Amino acid sequence: MGLQLKNPLVAASSGLTGSVEKIRELATAGIGAVVLKSIFEEQINNEVTNLLQKDQQNNSYPEAEDYIKGYLRDNTITKHLELVEETKQAVDIPVIASINCVSSDEWTSFAKDFEQAGADAIELNIFYLPTDRNERPGMVEQLYLDVLKKVKSQVTIPVSVKFGLNHSNILGMADKLKANGADGIVMFNRFFEPDINLETLELTSSEVFSLPTDIRRSLRWVGMVSSAVPKLEIAASTGIHDGQAVIKQILAGATVTQLCSTLYINGAKIIPAFLDEISGFMKKWNFKKIDDFRGRLSYKNIPDPMLYERSQFMKYFSNRS
Ligand SMILES: Cc1cc2nc3c(=O)[nH]c(=O)nc-3n(C[C@H](O)[C@H](O)[C@H](O)COP(=O)(O)O)c2cc1C
Repeated sequence: MGLQLKNPLVAASSGLTGSVEKIRELATAGIGAVVLKSIFEEQINNEVTNLLQKDQQNNSYPEAEDYIKGYLRDNTITKHLELVEETKQAVDIPVIASINCVSSDEWTSFAKDFEQAGADAIELNIFYLPTDRNERPGMVEQLYLDVLKKVKSQVTIPVSVKFGLNHSNILGMADKLKANGADGIVMFNRFFEPDINLETLELTSSEVFSLPTDIRRSLRWVGMVSSAVPKLEIAASTGIHDGQAVIKQILAGATVTQLCSTLYINGAKIIPAFLDEISGFMKKWNFKKIDDFRGRLSYKNIPDPMLYERSQFMKYFSNRS
């Protein structure tokens, strides 16, 4: 995306990247770049609805919705723009602003404001959960492309798209994102998922943080997309809890890796340990720079690419009693 990073560790968008103090701590510990906490379309829309519901009991007036929406939106965008400006002043690493969109409406226009505030790039955190069984899958993909195209038409800084694993054709999705102007993609976002509490018989939230084994969710796709869609930069995300996970994703073809859960669990002090592990690996294999091993085990660079395509456990089960 044309950004210069001193290492392939990026702090993923989260509450940890929502204040200048926390970001300064991450930068001091050695993080290579930071994606700021997303501005959420859905959250503000929900706040508007809540406020309006309360207001209805107090005899609301017809223009209330527009007024409240405008006020909340302006207030939120101002805070996010200040965060971009202040972060740019405070640290000397690339600062990427993040917009969460579920539609290609006015939210996409915030990208221009972020660019003017000094963001080095935009990450679009797009997630649409289809709840209508008649909705055609192609329409869902089109929504992602429409948001991207709208944002690309408004900014000159690089734009990446962070999406989830639940697309029927990940290679096709990555290819279409590239064709519609994405400079990079983040594979993959991790979403809130429900669980059921058997003690209270209530729907609850499942574990918020990922596990180290979760890199399996993206490793295959990083290996395949990096080979199939040239010149599309990949930030591998989800389950990166140590330097080894970073190395694996880079060997598969990732440009950078994004860290979130590990920073929540261990704090910024874990970053030097990541860097030591990467340096140790490079020393062992005599790699002088990250490019020396990036993509070395991607789909197109291994003798048996079918290993990336294998999806059934047939052999595993046939050898076990
Ligand atoms: C508490 C929390 C808050 C998050 N907030 C955001 C956010 O504002 N925007 C976003 O794009 N992703 C958000 N994420 C997702 C992370 O950026 C990341 O993609 C995901 O947690 C997977 O990475 P991990 O396995 O290292 O946690 C959040 C994750 C957590 C756990």
